[in-house]
Amino acid sequence: MTEAAPIRALALLGSLRAKSLNRMLLNAALAQAPEGLVLTEATGLDALPHFNEDIEAAGDPPAVVAFKAALAGAQAVLVVSPEYNSGPPGVLKNAIDWGSRGANPWRGMPVALMSASPGALGGARVQAQLRASFSGMGTMVLPGPDVLVGQAGSRFDAEGKLTDATTLKLVAAHLARLRDLARALGR
Ligand code: FNR
Repeated sequence: MTEAAPIRALALLGSLRAKSLNRMLLNAALAQAPEGLVLTEATGLDALPHFNEDIEAAGDPPAVVAFKAALAGAQAVLVVSPEYNSGPPGVLKNAIDWGSRGANPWRGMPVALMSASPGALGGARVQAQLRASFSGMGTMVLPGPDVLVGQAGSRFDAEGKLTDATTLKLVAAHLARLRDLARALGR
């Protein structure tokens, strides 16, 4: 039997901050993508204009074209995001909204969520809000166990490396389940 081709997964990061805890979490995911899953980070989310149907009607700007192409080429998506006032940061929601236009690759897309916060809940509310948005688009969001990294400051070392063994295991298992969901959906 020939081996299945690896699943191409696109990672979206909801923080633009240089020392972002969620960047550190995404780095941990990038470093331990399992066999059968190739994880690539989407770039240029901050170059997307604020969504505006007038801009769209005039023709997607190059940054939008590039983002939509990356999304359309993905067989799965990993979203790693902070929680801002109980919801997603604007840069992430904006990218999700641009991506939902036209062919809408979010429909049927397997998506895994991860969040990190200095707070105790680890971003539980942003994940709930993202699930609600994705549900409306027919996106296949991976069910729990959730990757909610609370008190995140204590789980990374001075270089930003994830050192917490339990979280490391959770991240690896989540990515493997994303790969398996994508395969099960015939992506
Ligand atoms: C926050 N933060 C936050 N944390 C949380 O757990 N729940 C929340 O609702 C909010 N709200 C919120 C609003 C705004 C505007 C900011 C700037 C911050 C704190 C947030 O989790 C913390 O700053 C993280 O470190 C941000 O993620 P990155 O940038 O470290 O990945």
